Amino acid sequence: MALVARRADRLAEVVATIESQGGTAKAIVSDLTTRTAAHEAVEQTVSTPGRLDTVVNNAGVVLMGPFMDAPEGEWERMIDVNVLGVLYVTNAALPQLIKAAEQGPRRTADLVNISSSGRPVARPGTAVYNLTKFGINGFSEALRQETQPLRVRVSVIEPGNVDTELASHTREELRAGIEAQIQAIERLQPSDVAETVAYIVTSDRRVAVSEVFVRSGDQNW
Ligand SMILES: NC(=O)c1ccc[n+]([C@@H]2O[C@H](COP(=O)([O-])OP(=O)(O)OC[C@H]3O[C@@H](n4cnc5c(N)ncnc54)[C@H](OP(=O)(O)O)[C@@H]3O)[C@@H](O)[C@H]2O)c1
Repeated sequence: MALVARRADRLAEVVATIESQGGTAKAIVSDLTTRTAAHEAVEQTVSTPGRLDTVVNNAGVVLMGPFMDAPEGEWERMIDVNVLGVLYVTNAALPQLIKAAEQGPRRTADLVNISSSGRPVARPGTAVYNLTKFGINGFSEALRQETQPLRVRVSVIEPGNVDTELASHTREELRAGIEAQIQAIERLQPSDVAETVAYIVTSDRRVAVSEVFVRSGDQNW
């Protein structure tokens, strides 16, 4: 397994956790917002053990706030990570996924894109995030149809509110309102999303779980 993100220390923590449970993982430090970086990350991933049969496009950012008030750079950051990052990684990984579906023991391969409940449900304060996640769903569905004859399954997961750092990237003056909303519900844990990924990618070859909307039992939006 390869884990890709920008912060080496955080990656090392996850690798240590995986290894302490008997697994193996390697950390690849990369900012996936350039085509070159995405291609290098895929190359490093396949250098050992030599096959790539599952990719999860998880990296994403939300910077909340009314569209008209957004400081310069916020829209671009969301589009760079949530859209261009996904395109670059997918473009770099697809030849490997196609090869794995042809030659690997599973005779199928998986690309899982992490969208958001911000795709089925657009709300004020997340307009550009909604734009990126609506886009990811459209991209995923079109790509699913393109790669289905090659047995590369493309899936999209739309998580509701998850207990992660995501909301902390929003400007400080807007965070109190977001925190109040978050505190009111028992959020999903990252493991809930991970289990959804596992369900998708361990499904038998004859099954394609193309879309899953998973949210907290408390979440009414
Ligand atoms: N949390 C939620 O409530 C929620 C709800 C719906 C959907 N989602 C989606 O779930 C996905 C994961 O978000 P999260 O909640 O886990 O957020 P998070 O806690 O902020 O984590 C984001 C992850 O993406 C990585 N990342 C960010 N920018 C990157 C870049 N330029 N290059 C490489 N890696 C990058 C981060 O690592 P580094 O910072 O070290 O690079 C981190 O591992 C996102 O696509 C998000 O839109 C989250």
